[in-house]
Amino acid sequence: MRTQVGIVGAGPAGLILSHLLWQQGIDSIIIEKYSRQHVQERVRAGVLEQGTVEMLAGLGLADRLLREGLVHCGIEMSFLGRRHRIDFKELTGRGITVYGQNEVVKDLTNARLARGGEIVFEAEEVSVADLDSRTPRINYRKAGEHAELICDFIAGCDGFHGICRPSIPAGVLNFYEREYPFGWLGILAEAPPSSHELIYSNHERGFALLSMRSPKISRLYLQCEPEEDLEQWPDERIWEELDTRLSVEGWKLTRGAVLQKGVTGMRSFVVEPMQFGRLFLAGDAAHIVPPTGAKGLNLAAADVRVLAHALTEHYESDSMSLLDRYSQIALRRVWKAQRFSWWMTSMLHRFHGENSFDHRRQLAELDYVTSSRAAAQSLAENYVGLPFDPY
Ligand code: FAD
Ligand code: DHB
Repeated sequence: MRTQVGIVGAGPAGLILSHLLWQQGIDSIIIEKYSRQHVQERVRAGVLEQGTVEMLAGLGLADRLLREGLVHCGIEMSFLGRRHRIDFKELTGRGITVYGQNEVVKDLTNARLARGGEIVFEAEEVSVADLDSRTPRINYRKAGEHAELICDFIAGCDGFHGICRPSIPAGVLNFYEREYPFGWLGILAEAPPSSHELIYSNHERGFALLSMRSPKISRLYLQCEPEEDLEQWPDERIWEELDTRLSVEGWKLTRGAVLQKGVTGMRSFVVEPMQFGRLFLAGDAAHIVPPTGAKGLNLAAADVRVLAHALTEHYESDSMSLLDRYSQIALRRVWKAQRFSWWMTSMLHRFHGENSFDHRRQLAELDYVTSSRAAAQSLAENYVGLPFDPY
């Protein structure tokens, strides 16, 4: 088989890229390790920046998102038993949309197939080769048969645990990493959200977050150990802990059946450059942010926006100029999102070994962010999404 751009991974990065290329008349084929059902049912991100929503709308992919997504104009920050609202609309003129990542993936997959696109699900033993030649290849097995996809370019959109980044020869990449000494225990619950907007809470027992997926479904998170044993967390204990960490006077958390439970570790990670030869990395394959700033999916979308422009320029004028600058352009946004995600994480979580000075400093930071217009505006403009860089 042959295609112009071979894409590894049918997550948000790979799917959005295939639609952006389709819009420009560029062929692509996506090779995905898991089944369509598995990919569509993974519960992950929930917050879309306005720029991400606009990008999807520009591709004609936002009908259901605009109908069912929950538009939020602010968030609540909770500490010392009180809540403080950050009004995004007033501070930036922009907002966010709460809509599950799995719904985005469902919409994009359906539309890709309806537009005649090809996605190979359940591809086994996926590998990439000849990356620094003009005809890089993706090899895999499908239903026991070996297959080879010959490409002009490969987009490595296969997430943090994918095979593209490790296929780059040793010594090419620089790694920048920080692990956090905690994780998030997340639940999806059949309970109407107890707040109209997200609540980020700094509590002496640890961070908690109230989010949602629809008017009937809540999504809630608790700071926990990185390798927390879910056996130790029966539903009742989770609800009690959420009650404690989110509580303010006169407010009650609505409980309901727990539909799904999971633990996620937290890390900050970047590789530079996001390219080797004709392999371009995008999304979680190149960088991970801790989820506190709700940036991962949005960064994946921003990367492939740049990559699609660069590939379009190449096919229009045979130039490699923008492709050669892809990594540099994408990394400017990546590092600003890294800074913001690290800062939100540091401000809101309890760290082992922190002393009373550290805790007082955190509270002062929260007090500053919720009482100074300049500080609130800085949080707001990062949360709703910085403008895309011109290039
Ligand atoms: P992925 O979604 O990981 O997709 C990679 C794809 O590649 C997958 O389909 C995978 O199956 C496939 N793949 C892997 N290996 C191979 C292989 N060898 N061959 C072929 N295919 C392969 N981000 C936000 O923006 N907002 C949020 O609110 C937010 N909250 C989050 C909450 C949690 C609990 C978690 C875990 C993450 C959250 N994120 C959030 C981050 C977000 O989910 C990721 O950043 C996003 O999924 C990145 O998209 P991606 O396409 O780069 O990678
Ligand atoms: C959600 C996840 C996040 O990481 C976040 O910061 C806000 C919301 C969510 O899953 O809804």
